[in-house]
Amino acid sequence: MPGFEIFGDEERKQVQDVLDTGVLFRYGFDAVRQDHWKAKTFERELAERMGVAHCHLCSSGTAALSIALAACGVGAGDEVIVPPFTFVASFESILTAGAVPVFADIDETLCLDPRAVEAGLSSRTKAVVVVHMCGAMARIDEIQSLCDRKGVVLIEDACQSVGASFNGKALGTFGRMGCYSFDPVKTITCGEGGAVVTNDDQRYELAHAFADHGHDHIGSDRGAEQHPIIGYNYRISELNAAVGLAQLRKLDTILAMQREHKSALKTAMGSFPNISFRCLPDEAGDSATFLSFMLPDEKSARQAARDLNGAGVDGCFYWYDNNWHYLKKWHHLKQMKSAAKLPAQLFDHCPDYSRVELPRSDAVMARTISMQIKLGWTAEQIEQRISRMKEVLTR
Ligand SMILES: Cc1ncc(COP(=O)(O)O)c(C=O)c1O
Repeated sequence: MPGFEIFGDEERKQVQDVLDTGVLFRYGFDAVRQDHWKAKTFERELAERMGVAHCHLCSSGTAALSIALAACGVGAGDEVIVPPFTFVASFESILTAGAVPVFADIDETLCLDPRAVEAGLSSRTKAVVVVHMCGAMARIDEIQSLCDRKGVVLIEDACQSVGASFNGKALGTFGRMGCYSFDPVKTITCGEGGAVVTNDDQRYELAHAFADHGHDHIGSDRGAEQHPIIGYNYRISELNAAVGLAQLRKLDTILAMQREHKSALKTAMGSFPNISFRCLPDEAGDSATFLSFMLPDEKSARQAARDLNGAGVDGCFYWYDNNWHYLKKWHHLKQMKSAAKLPAQLFDHCPDYSRVELPRSDAVMARTISMQIKLGWTAEQIEQRISRMKEVLTR
């Protein structure tokens, strides 16, 4: 994903401000920082952009997930429903919280199927972490009303979908907390960074404290602050926040370019026989970082992925064989290989992940290819891509 494609003077200026003051810490040093508050400014502008009361910037999207789980009260022994098509951070953050990931099927949205979520609920379910994959939305309205009805916490992982929306409302703002990533390959980047957003004042205070060793952030003497809870260090530096601030101000330009490029490709591909597209509950809200399409069966999808690559159509991902994004190849999880014993292993309700079978998700993923949308493509490059794709996909 492309924020890095358009680094320029804006990022350089923000970073230079920080270097000029020498204050790389996001808190304090009021007298020397010459009023540069990069993390705080980013938080205010992101909250405004997403239409939400609070934002806390942190060191990564993975950190954001850990913070959200903690602030929403998810801990030892709780079950958390997650999809099998996601990034490894989903189960890592749940396991490090001491909780137990429970996998539920996805559907052709490439995100959790609300019916599978309902079927996966148990008396131990504390939360559902819905993951808005590849730039676009889950059936978030249905999942939100299910969670409300069942009294289960909804957390949104919108790490891959910054700037996307459903019916005009930003992804990440439907659940009790939403998480974003600004790592080097996300829509906009801090180098490394992430954020949590929420409308809940109490969750925000807990998140802010948890992400900074439990500090209450009251007063101007950090050494005298109280620690209402035990926390950890998930802070972001001012240097990373500075890069992100310049990128955030380019978000709408990035989205417009992606949408234009994706629309040209999708319109052309609409006439290819045997190709269908990912189901989008609100196509207008797609951030258009990827164009995800399906072939009739696994054999033809596998062949198409190989042929596209061979024809120089780069950035086409066949997730079904991917080590990071689909459960099938998470051998370390299946064998519960970890540096030290995990709390989940103490609970007899921890599933044997080597036996988890999700044939409905397999049936979707085996047929799906996602093509990355780049900002830097010229009109000629898009035309060339279309003609190469036509050659490969209509053979
Ligand atoms: C869906 C999803 N969640 C969480 C993360 C973790 O973000 P980060 O790399 O900033 O820790 C990623 C990163 O790729 C992701 O794709």
